[in-house]
Amino acid sequence: MLRIIVLGAAAGGGFPQWNCNCANCRRARSGDAAALPQTQSSIAVTADDRHWFLLNASPDLRQQLAGTPCLQPQYGLRSSPVVGAVLTNADVDHVAGLLTLREAQPLAVYATGRVQSVLRANPIFNVLDPDKVARRTMDLDRPEPLLTRGGGVTGLTIEAFAVPGKIALWLEDPTAADFGSTAGDTVGLRVSDGTTSVFYIPGCAALPPALAERLRNAALVLFDGTTWSDDEMQCLGLGDKTASRMGHMAMSGPDGTIAAFDSLNVRRRVFIHINNSNPVLLADSPQRRAAAVAGWEVAQDGMEIRL
Ligand code: MLT
Ligand code: MN
Ligand code: ZN
Repeated sequence: MLRIIVLGAAAGGGFPQWNCNCANCRRARSGDAAALPQTQSSIAVTADDRHWFLLNASPDLRQQLAGTPCLQPQYGLRSSPVVGAVLTNADVDHVAGLLTLREAQPLAVYATGRVQSVLRANPIFNVLDPDKVARRTMDLDRPEPLLTRGGGVTGLTIEAFAVPGKIALWLEDPTAADFGSTAGDTVGLRVSDGTTSVFYIPGCAALPPALAERLRNAALVLFDGTTWSDDEMQCLGLGDKTASRMGHMAMSGPDGTIAAFDSLNVRRRVFIHINNSNPVLLADSPQRRAAAVAGWEVAQDGMEIRL
């Protein structure tokens, strides 16, 4: 059985975002029960209830672990049910939590060659003692077992596949085509326990036919829910960038995620990586209702799914 816990449902910045005074963030700060705060982008997954992998390591990881008893030490003086992490890109919301995982704990960190090279180029990540923490490179489209640092089996298999997206925000080269993005900068993940599987795709700029076919008939997809509309940040006066410029698909509209999934027969569809500007964060918004009517759930911190 696969067990999935949403550690952080929000996109980079979280909800509320520290410097944002938009209507959504104000409601979240006020303690409004229909605008619950959400931490930054990560889930945890296990097949045996003993070995857990983080899918992305968020800047809020310390808080997320503190709020999740099954991820806390269970035996001995130093131990953790968290045996590793798998990264979907090198954005701050997905890698900064690696720094929280220091303290000489044996771990295995899986990422594409591209993302591993970004980590290697940043010596701060050497706080993850190279003698204790294995960095493993995932080939695209090749399922492999997720193993502990010592090679122990966890019952989990991972497959990474390229999705439309871009290089991490902090690595963008304004003079290069597509900001210097290359294959492997952004991937989706399929995690399996041998019987069933979940797709985790927190960043995705479009759904080309091959990707749609990959997801067809899936039992569960956790998908990029950054914005409701492509020009949401602009309309709210929060920024200049469209969702697509940021490497994300909007939920609504003819080119949006809801429409793109319409005929894919995915049994359970859950939006994740939700930006603080997105009205679906509000339990009482018409957009939340529209998403629900279209068969979509909105992830929340602490949400647990068993497959
Ligand atoms: C994104 O998903 O677009 C990034 O997380 C942006 C960021 O790093 O803030
Ligand atoms: Mn992000
Ligand atoms: Zn805001």
